[in-house]
Amino acid sequence: MKHFLKETDFTPQEAAEVFTLARELKRKRGRNRPVLSQQTWALIFSKASTRTRVSFEVGIHELGGHVLFLNKNDIHLGRGESIADTARVLSRFVHGLVVRTYAQSDVEELARHGSIPVINGLTDLLHPCQIYTDAFTAAERWAGPKGDMLAALRGRKIAFLGDTRFNTANSWVLGAAVFGMKVALAGPKGYEPGPQIKALLKKEGLASGYRFTTDPFEAVADADIVYTDVWTSMGLEEEARRRIRQMRPYAVTAKLFSAAKPDALFMHCLPAHPGEEVQQDVLDNPRSIIFDQAENRLHVQKAILAMLGRGSRT
Ligand code: CP
Ligand code: NVA
Repeated sequence: MKHFLKETDFTPQEAAEVFTLARELKRKRGRNRPVLSQQTWALIFSKASTRTRVSFEVGIHELGGHVLFLNKNDIHLGRGESIADTARVLSRFVHGLVVRTYAQSDVEELARHGSIPVINGLTDLLHPCQIYTDAFTAAERWAGPKGDMLAALRGRKIAFLGDTRFNTANSWVLGAAVFGMKVALAGPKGYEPGPQIKALLKKEGLASGYRFTTDPFEAVADADIVYTDVWTSMGLEEEARRRIRQMRPYAVTAKLFSAAKPDALFMHCLPAHPGEEVQQDVLDNPRSIIFDQAENRLHVQKAILAMLGRGSRT
């Protein structure tokens, strides 16, 4: 059974297929084939979401499938039924799961015990749907409507600033290795990628194309993309004050953004906290592509759903 729990779950050929299919689904929106017809997909979410929830719900609907949104606390999983039994039971009813939770090991356990595809809709460790979409969004700009999107990404440099030890940054470390890009991470001392990410790179035999620095200007030099995420992710609220203090030097200001390449793109997975990790004028800059990123979640995830849904026939 094919799952999408981390960036490396697709082979390079499959990643190319995701991009090709996403481009076609986007071009033909409103006329997509109902490839999920007679399928029901369940979204199990333990954290808040605007983009992931809505894009998956709309995407499944547009591919002819039905969606069940299950807040973890509305089902017995929230009151102690095991992940294994939840996976086994849901596999008898639905054709795929999209899961947003804390531990990466929980999505892995659901995938291991179920017999339907599982998509990671964000864990503390990774946010793979986001990074595939981000790479697609940048490639769309660089390759144009007909160019080779994966070739357009190869060798490009992304500077990631702020919280360089959580899901979005971790996923960029893996994603950059998959897409042949370089990542410069700039964050406070102690925010280097953790052992799980290093172990994943090693296990997948991927050269680690990342560098970590505490100097934000060093990171953005020659960057094609300047990227940031919130400083206090969901679940870390108690650390907010400390994080704001530590990460202030990594805020993306107009001055920092202008130290990247003159045509560099600004990206953010959203939601943003203007005045914290990024200044409003950078969010509003013509080279900020944050809302294209948000829109493309729909098209890229539809491609992922179409590919995984094939293995989950009714
Ligand atoms: N970027 C992202 O995943 O947004 P949501 O938390 O709104 O889903
Ligand atoms: N790092 C953020 C991403 C939200 C999409 C969080 O985990 O809250």
